Amino acid sequence: MRKNSKIYVAGHRGMVGSAILKELERQGYTNIVTRTHEGLDLCRQAEVERFFEEEKPEYVIDAAALVGGIKANSERPAEFMYVNMQIQQNLIWTAFHSDVKKFLFLGSACMYPKECPQPMREEELLTGLPEVTNEGYALAKISGSRLCSYINREYGRAFISAIPANSYGIGDSFDPEHSHVIPALLMKYHKAKESGAKEVVLWGTGAAKREFINNKDIASACVFLLENYSSPEPINVGTGEEVSIMELSQMIKRITGFEGEIVTDPTKPDGMMRRLCDNAKIHEMGWRPTVPLDQGIRELYEWYLSEGNESNE
Ligand SMILES: NC(=O)c1ccc[n+]([C@@H]2O[C@H](COP(=O)([O-])OP(=O)(O)OC[C@H]3O[C@@H](n4cnc5c(N)ncnc54)[C@H](OP(=O)(O)O)[C@@H]3O)[C@@H](O)[C@H]2O)c1
Repeated sequence: MRKNSKIYVAGHRGMVGSAILKELERQGYTNIVTRTHEGLDLCRQAEVERFFEEEKPEYVIDAAALVGGIKANSERPAEFMYVNMQIQQNLIWTAFHSDVKKFLFLGSACMYPKECPQPMREEELLTGLPEVTNEGYALAKISGSRLCSYINREYGRAFISAIPANSYGIGDSFDPEHSHVIPALLMKYHKAKESGAKEVVLWGTGAAKREFINNKDIASACVFLLENYSSPEPINVGTGEEVSIMELSQMIKRITGFEGEIVTDPTKPDGMMRRLCDNAKIHEMGWRPTVPLDQGIRELYEWYLSEGNESNE
């Protein structure tokens, strides 16, 4: 990949896409093409074909998707499945029929079976049913990743897919309908501090463990994969570090400055006790994450207090 190769970042205003755009610029890539959702609706095949004919991108990173938290995913599986399948099919198939040299599809760790042995190795995909609360989204993501693998194997084209762990970072959504664990907890502790509450109730026992990766690290991994990876096998992108929900809460309590107590509610479900990607493959290739969790959360909180606050209300 040359520094002036034409690279299209789909979804460049999203949490992950915006970090990818910044990382490409930081690394000196000069020929990046983007479109807003309003300027190009990726659900419309004819518009996507016209865009590829006009712009002729050489590399494509697909960070465009309909993404949501557990509530939105479980209430609207039809929309999550349909929209994501449309976006990815249009992008992948049009790129396949164009002169795209490499296509990077972003999957999600929710593609793994609910009962997956931990840590989750890439080989475990499709060995069991996904978690029911995000089944529509997971099925769409699995088919996008598989479509890239098929094109890669059948036609020898470098269509690849990455499976990032749970992500967080600047640009994250604080909308209660869409937010993931870290922004949701930040809001909870921030509001508790503002209202002078004595305690914050944490759902479950707090013992469940999760892996989180900062969007800057996903972005550096995406650029690394564009430069170094062409295999049809999807590849995990994570830190390999787990944190319990209680440890995460204590970290967020410190960062927000909430001084009350954390009280667990063990009558509420913990969800899966572990969700950890096996990152041996990408780590062995030489890529490593660089943003410590507490630093990344602190940056996100500062961003929320400055601009994220307004853009999400
Ligand atoms: N967040 C995570 O924890 C996580 C973890 C692993 C993998 N990923 C993957 O990373 C990718 C990006 O996620 P994200 O968290 O960055 O999501 P996000 O912040 O919601 O960004 C998604 C982007 O896609 C755009 N988009 C949605 N529908 C579109 C359409 N029909 N036409 C054009 N653009 C459209 C959105 O534009 P508008 O906002 O204008 O609609 C937005 O810019 C997804 O594939 C996701 O599966 C995310």
